[in-house]
Formats: sequence, structure tokens, C-alpha cells
Amino acid sequence: MHETTQPQALTNLPMVGDLVHYEQDRLAYLKHLKERHGDLARFDHNLYFAFDPEIIEQTLLRTHQEFIPDDFIRPAGIPYSTAQIQEKYVQWKQFRSGLPKALHVSRVQAFAPTISALAEQHLATWHPRQQLNFSSEMQTLLSRITVQYFFGAAGEALIPLINAFIDARFQFFNSPYSFPKWFPHPKRVRLRKLARQLHGRLLEWVQHTREHPAEEETLLSFLLAATGRDEQPLTDHLICLILAANLFQAGPTTISALSWLWWLLAEHAEPAQKFYQEIDHVLAGRAAVASDLSQLKYVECAIKETLRLYPPVWQIGRDIATDGDLCGYTCSNGKRIRIVSYLAHRDPRYFQEPDAFRPERWLDEEFVRKVHKGAYIPFGTGPTRCLGSPLALTEIGLISVLIAQRFHLRLPAKKHAKVSPHLVLRPDKLTLIVEPR
Ligand code: HEM
Repeated sequence: MHETTQPQALTNLPMVGDLVHYEQDRLAYLKHLKERHGDLARFDHNLYFAFDPEIIEQTLLRTHQEFIPDDFIRPAGIPYSTAQIQEKYVQWKQFRSGLPKALHVSRVQAFAPTISALAEQHLATWHPRQQLNFSSEMQTLLSRITVQYFFGAAGEALIPLINAFIDARFQFFNSPYSFPKWFPHPKRVRLRKLARQLHGRLLEWVQHTREHPAEEETLLSFLLAATGRDEQPLTDHLICLILAANLFQAGPTTISALSWLWWLLAEHAEPAQKFYQEIDHVLAGRAAVASDLSQLKYVECAIKETLRLYPPVWQIGRDIATDGDLCGYTCSNGKRIRIVSYLAHRDPRYFQEPDAFRPERWLDEEFVRKVHKGAYIPFGTGPTRCLGSPLALTEIGLISVLIAQRFHLRLPAKKHAKVSPHLVLRPDKLTLIVEPR
């Protein structure tokens, strides 16, 4: 058996590890940790950060046998038993029931006209020289699109509660550490209250839809028709959990991706010009439909490059459920690992000029073929890869084409977006000014 290495840490403070440095500037801290200790480094006695594409791929592919999607409620350091691993696997399988069909690309294409119609309505409210809080504009629009996909048009009534729940989750999970479950932290209290309220509303909604099925196909109608591992229909309670988890997966990530894309285009004149030129050339002023997106190669590359530089899910967590070897490092059951996709996506071994916004790199087929599977993971990889990527990419594509056909968006002088690396990587206070075309 070959020898394994213990991951190294910057400091060895008991309990808190590098928490203070991390909280001062998360991205700078992680860059420094990677520079000092390379592929896999230790944060404290229970948590590792992974930067290396090979380790990342291994970890994600071995999910559910040896690495389990992280569970903040569970205290770190306690080893998993075989029965617990099996139980987690069964829970996860249940969680995914019905989703591959509900989020399938054909279903997304059928929904695309609704995305365009809602986006057109929203963009009609923008006027020349208006200063937009861009992320909040996208939140308003994406909330409507998401609830329509999930529940149909009537679902708009749920938007205020859903947004409050998402906000409370952001506030609570903003720290790398979880407080003990018994500790009545005000953010936890608020989150629990909103989660209870949301669950109650969703339960009413699910029961009502079960009794009075709507004609339109929605994510909920797919879940109501789905069966679980035991071939039985999903319970209403499980459907509510799936809906709540997906509402969180769907909105903030896509809002963040759209915000970064339009910030990068506002910052980079040459790529922006190519982006606009392609849309004008391919569509010649007509409205885009979903099938046009595959013709808009440069637009597609700009979206890919945005997700490389600013992956909304910039860290992916796993609980380690094995004692063994991870690409030459010792890993032990009960510890945690955070995959830092933000830095893997900027690994100079795989990306030339890794910090530059160069959509063209994705036009090079040879480069695309060679990219390491663990070096570009905006939607993850392996068993838990994102099921919502067709929906997200269609939303980002159609909304962006509609914006580009109507407006230029520019940054106010001397204003730059600040990176906010929390539960989702998002720009802080992104202001863009509307210019008519
Ligand atoms: C730009 C937008 C999005 C990004 C960047 C993104 C990113 C990700 C990533 C990185 C994962 C893997 C997590 C892991 O392995 O632990 C994931 C999983 C997932 N995402 Fe997304 N996502 C996006 C949009 C969506 C949307 C719109 C939906 C649903 C409507 C969705 C539903 C899911 C689901 C169901 C999973 C699988 C969870 C599991 O099996 O454990 N995502 N997403």
C-alpha cells in the first residue's frame, strides 16, 4: 500500500482553526491556503478544502459510497456507520424521484415561451438612463418564472413567502460553522419559523392540486405522478421537502449567474460587442425561441465563461464516510471536505490566463475536449450533478438575448461589483444603467 499524506493547515488553533482569517476575506484566504498547501489543505481538525481537479472529480464521483452531500445539522467528527450511509442514500434517491422527468430538457423547451413572455413583460418596465439594482431585478423576474415552472400561474401567490424563506436560509448558512441545534440563534429561529410556514403553505397547495389536478404540466404535477423506490406515490410531506429544496437550488443560483454575465459584459467591451453582433446576426431582430440558443455559439461561450469565473455554487460540501486514501491524502470517516470550484475553475494548469474573461476559449474544440472533469464543475458532476441545468441555461440564454435586443447595460463610473462569497457567489450591489439600443 502506498503512503498517504496528512493535509496541512496554516494555523493549528484548537476548535476555530483558521476561522478568523477565513471570515476576514474568504477568497483571499482560500487562495493563500492553496498557494501554501496545494491540492488539499486543512482548515481545522474536521474540515478540509480541496482545490485539485483530480481530488474533486474523485470526491464527486464517489458520492454516496464514500462521500455524502454535507449535512450541517450533523456534528462534524462523528464517523458514519454503514447503516447511516445506506439510509442517506435511500433519502437522497427519494429526494430525486420524479425530478429527472420534471426538469428534462423537453419539458424546459415546452416552457420556454413562458420564460420569454415573462421576461418581455419585465423588460418593458425598464426605461432609458434608469439605474438598476440588477440582481434584485433578476430576482423579481426569476421568482415569477420559477413559481410558474413549479406550480403554474397561480403559484405567484407564494412568491413573498418563498423569497423570505430563501433570504432566511442565506442569512443562517452564511457561516462555515453551524451552531449546536439547541442554541436559539435568532437567524435559526427565523429560518425555522419561515420553513414551517412554507411547509404549511406547500402542503395545502399539494393537497389541493392532488384533489383538483390542473391541466398545465408543472414540476408539481410531475412529482404528484412520480413513484419512489418502493413504487408507491410520493407522500405529500416528501413532495413539499423536494419543492422547498429545489426552490432554493433554482432561484439564487440563476440570479447570480445572470448578474455576473451582465457585469462581465459591461466591463469587457470586445466580448460584449461580439455577444451583441451574434444575436443581431442570427436573429435579425426577431424574437428568440429555445432552439435558437444552440445557434448562438458565442452567447453560449460567454455563459460558460461566466460560470467558470464566477460559479454561483462556488463550494460543494461533502461529509467523508470512509477511512482511506484520496489521491495520496489520508482521509477519515467523520471529517468534512469543501470543494472550492471557484479556484479549480481558475487553475492555470487547465486555463490559460485563468482570471481573464475570454469566452473564445470555449470555441476551441480541442480545449473543451481536454478540460479536466474536475476543473470545470459549475453544475457539479457525478451522481448529484445538477438536474436543473437545462432550465437554468435556457433562462439565462433567453433573458440575456431579450436584454441584448433592447438595451445596452453599462456600469456607473467608478462603480465595481464586489464579490460576495457566501452560500452562493454573488455580486454585492451591482448597479447597471440602462441605455436604449
Ligand atoms: C445557474 C444555475 C445553477 C447552478 C450554478 C447550479 C449548480 C448546482 C450544483 C453545483 C449542483 C451539485 C451539488 C452537489 O453535488 O452537491 C447542483 C445540484 C442540483 N441542482 Fe442545480 N444549479 C443551478 C440551477 C438549478 C435549477 C434551476 C434547479 C431546479 C429547478 C436545480 C436543481 C438541482 C438539483 C435537483 C440538484 C441535484 C441535488 C442532488 O442530487 O443532491 N439547479 N446544482
